[in-house]
Amino acid sequence: MARLIVVSNRVGVPDGNARAGGLEVSIRPALKKRGGVWFGWSGKVADGDPGPANTIIQDNVSYVTVDLKRDDYEEFYNGFANRVLWPILHYRLDLAEFTRRDLSGYFRVNNVFADNLEKLLRPDDVIWVHDYHLMPLAKTLRDHGRRNRIGFFLHIPCPPPEILAALPNHERLVPALCQYDLVGFQTEIDANNFSRYLADEVGLKRDGADGFIYDDRVVRVGVFPVGVETEAFSRLARRAVGSAFVSEVLASMVGRAMIIGVDRLDYSKGIPERMAAFERFLNGFPDWRGLVTYLQITPRSRTDIAEYADLGRIVGEAAGRINGQFGEASWTPLRYINKAHSRTALAGLYRSARVALVTPLRDGMNLVAKEYIAAQDPDNPGVLVLSRFAGAARECGAAVLVNPYDPEGVAIAINRALSMPLEERRMRHAANFRVLVENDLRHWAERFLSLIEDGDPANDASLVAGAPVGRPRRIGNVEAPMRPSAASR
Ligand code: F6P
Repeated sequence: MARLIVVSNRVGVPDGNARAGGLEVSIRPALKKRGGVWFGWSGKVADGDPGPANTIIQDNVSYVTVDLKRDDYEEFYNGFANRVLWPILHYRLDLAEFTRRDLSGYFRVNNVFADNLEKLLRPDDVIWVHDYHLMPLAKTLRDHGRRNRIGFFLHIPCPPPEILAALPNHERLVPALCQYDLVGFQTEIDANNFSRYLADEVGLKRDGADGFIYDDRVVRVGVFPVGVETEAFSRLARRAVGSAFVSEVLASMVGRAMIIGVDRLDYSKGIPERMAAFERFLNGFPDWRGLVTYLQITPRSRTDIAEYADLGRIVGEAAGRINGQFGEASWTPLRYINKAHSRTALAGLYRSARVALVTPLRDGMNLVAKEYIAAQDPDNPGVLVLSRFAGAARECGAAVLVNPYDPEGVAIAINRALSMPLEERRMRHAANFRVLVENDLRHWAERFLSLIEDGDPANDASLVAGAPVGRPRRIGNVEAPMRPSAASR
């Protein structure tokens, strides 16, 4: 078997720190199982010369990281990656702040990554590149004569070509993805959008149902919805629910039902909109006042970017307003905290929460939704309220699906989830859990890697954009409001 080299901006160096973000959660187990190299940014910014790459070897994985120069950090990470690509790929043209300087910083850091990578590479290594920070990496490696099999997976959404084409210099950036052998997306919506871009904007000819001809090469486009370690996470949650930490949290709830939300502080997650929906819920369903506590765990992220700092203020104010308006001396309706929690702590909290609110305005997949399902007690499961605009909604259609832009609809869904009879909760949970066992994290990684390695993915029907991978399996819609029930968990 060829050696695997994973490349991503963030690297899950085993340092014991709890970090936020689905990418690390997805890659770490896949790489640990197979062994190989994980290359990327150390997370550190060097004021002078960043020096050579740093290597840590643990088990059968080498973690190789480089520091970024201050200019690179500003222009590549804060600039083009997170002030241009992140908003545009999340359909938020209104938030994109393009500058030519940031664009050239983005290409410069991709070149630095390629130069460092070259020092490690063997001709038969398989390279798997992750996410929007590194779109042109394969092109740089090909320009240097590298002929390795290289795959790319986009963890976040890919918008329609009408939005992609509004990205200044998109002609230089997006077609560069054709230098990969395989380009993978979370959902068929994303893969279709990209395929439409290649056909309509770039004018590429198709090669079979899933490929495009670009110069003298063929790039395949596929759908690979990322999963979680469903059964392992379920076991973790079963253990964690009895921990001192979870017991203490539950004791502090004094028998009230817990609603949980866990998101990085990011505008794509729809946190102010969710809080507005919670406010509507307390207004519209007053019988629940004093009976529920909403715990929102929101580690800060990308704090050097103005939108993120503003969001921190807006969310903090909303939480204060709701507690001021509805709180009692003996009841805080909303607990809003920025501290990151370990996976074990989260697993235990998920299992203890009667409802999870996962209501992003747009999200590639959202692994909190999947982990919440995995963590539930199948005999007495909680209910997932899930945005229809999260990639996870394609597979987890048995959740209560909502439109996060409709606060009244979300308020009704919260009431419905809290009031849902046990039989219905069990049925919805079992349907979702089954899907997550069938498409767990191992399956995702193995399928992607086998398709890069085979070099002939034509036999995998699910590669075809539009194939029935992860179609929503809707069991029920949000319906008429119900009264709070006495049912407790
Ligand atoms: O999933 C998108 C992503 O950018 C991942 O690459 C990363 O794990 C997560 O969001 C956190 O973002 P950042 O690396 O900017 O802190």
